[in-house]
Amino acid sequence: AAQAREKQASLTDLLEKAGDAYRKQLSQSPKAIAYLKGRGVSGITAKRFGLGYAPEGWRSLASIFPAYDDAKLVECGLVIESDDGEGKRYDRFRDRVMFPIRNIKGECIGFGGRVFGDEKPKYLNSPETPVFHKGRELYGLFEGRTAIREQGYALVTEGYMDVVALAQLGFPNAVATLGTACTPDHVHKLFRFTDTVVFSFDGDAAGRRAARKALDGALAYATDTRSIKFLFLPAEHDPDSFVREYGADAFARHVHDATPLSRFLLEAASELCDLGQAEGRARMSSNARPLWNLLPDGALKRQLLAEIADK
Ligand code: CTP
Ligand code: MN
Ligand code: MN
Ligand code: MN
Ligand code: MN
Repeated sequence: AAQAREKQASLTDLLEKAGDAYRKQLSQSPKAIAYLKGRGVSGITAKRFGLGYAPEGWRSLASIFPAYDDAKLVECGLVIESDDGEGKRYDRFRDRVMFPIRNIKGECIGFGGRVFGDEKPKYLNSPETPVFHKGRELYGLFEGRTAIREQGYALVTEGYMDVVALAQLGFPNAVATLGTACTPDHVHKLFRFTDTVVFSFDGDAAGRRAARKALDGALAYATDTRSIKFLFLPAEHDPDSFVREYGADAFARHVHDATPLSRFLLEAASELCDLGQAEGRARMSSNARPLWNLLPDGALKRQLLAEIADK
């Protein structure tokens, strides 16, 4: 175990060092600075999140890691080894704006990198490594942990830029899942910091599917002392674009009006059901049953049963 810890520490040290280099590169890249400015990101916000820039070039990291052949660079996800038999190595992140991902101790465990244009993939993330597990980590949790405690709730979004824009415009309590669905592990982690979680995904169809998945993952955590809500934005917006276009007060109203888990459960169960007819109502109640089953025993669970029966 001590050996594993030592190994992990050496991987996070490498990632931290790369993050420092990316930050330095950002300060020297007019293109990357202009990109972030263009998206409304201030210098202070860039600093808060340790944003950086990975330069063009296949082996830029070789200048800060003279031992570029060190297997640990591959293991921590910074370097890719080609599988063409020659084992050529090159930087994973090239010509991207870099978002360091930190664990709750503040150690750098991976990165997300965004292209400047519309090339695909738009975001490139670190692979799963001994220190980085996408399904467990939340982007921005380290930076936002104090605000989450102080504000009394956490906002869960889909993307890096959602977290960054929200923090800048008055919601430093936002986090993001990392290109994966919100898992029970994510929800469990958040409830160590607060008793209220507000999911705020994109307004598009993918965002609605993400909300539906988050409902499944959150149900088991919906005890009577906790509050779980779902915030739905206009279809063409995500939290980043919405808060920048309409401002903090408009976003705060959406937070205030967010749909409680109980109502979202009933809505989800009622989808495609004609509640005006016995058949539709029966179908709704059979849709609701597996969701309701996931709720922990308590007053909320009892009330919901009554509501379902009522309908
Ligand atoms: N994501 C990812 N890989 C992709 C696309 C998305 O990991 N190829 C993750 C990223 O964390 C991203 C989040 O999913 O921040 C949300 O994706 P999306 O809504 O498509 O990002 P946009 O809001 O369109 O990104 P941007 O605002 O930077 O244009
Ligand atoms: Mn592990
Ligand atoms: Mn999206
Ligand atoms: Mn966006
Ligand atoms: Mn988005």
